[in-house]
Amino acid sequence: MNRTRLAFVMVGGVLMSKFLIDFFAASPSSASLDQSKALFQNRCSQCHGLNQADNLDSYLPSNVQKLVERMQHMPGSGISSEEAQQIYEYLVYEYTKTHKNELDAELKALPDDKRKEEQAKIDEIAAKF
Ligand code: HEC
Repeated sequence: MNRTRLAFVMVGGVLMSKFLIDFFAASPSSASLDQSKALFQNRCSQCHGLNQADNLDSYLPSNVQKLVERMQHMPGSGISSEEAQQIYEYLVYEYTKTHKNELDAELKALPDDKRKEEQAKIDEIAAKF
């Protein structure tokens, strides 16, 4: 093998490793986002349309959590506590993208300590996905 070919093979090897590392590093979190989304779609469409969840009075994590827990306790919801937690995290993550303006305005209106609490929840969840 001449030097040029050897260099090509080595660069190719490095690029391939980087691709594989990125691929495997990214896949667990995207799978769990998909799973959480599927769970939301499955559980939260049993009694009403999913669009109910697209127009909330508040998108703050603590209020989203209260809402999901209230729905979990609707008779016959069949939503376990683990599932409620997963749906709550999925929705908080989604709202930071789909309802960013409303969420930012709500955060801004909070006293400092409350804002920090809510922001910490948002950050903690963002790190999971
Ligand atoms: C067992 C039936 C049932 C399931 C399952 C259910 N809901 Fe509901 N949901 C209701 C009923 C009944 C209402 C209207 C009465 C009420 O709000 O108390 C409602 C109302 C709502 C509202 C309107 C706002 C509000 O505060 O009432 C939202 C938002 C909502 N649901 C979201 C969800 C989400 C998110 C899930 C999945 C975690 C879910 N629902 C699962 C029965 C259900």
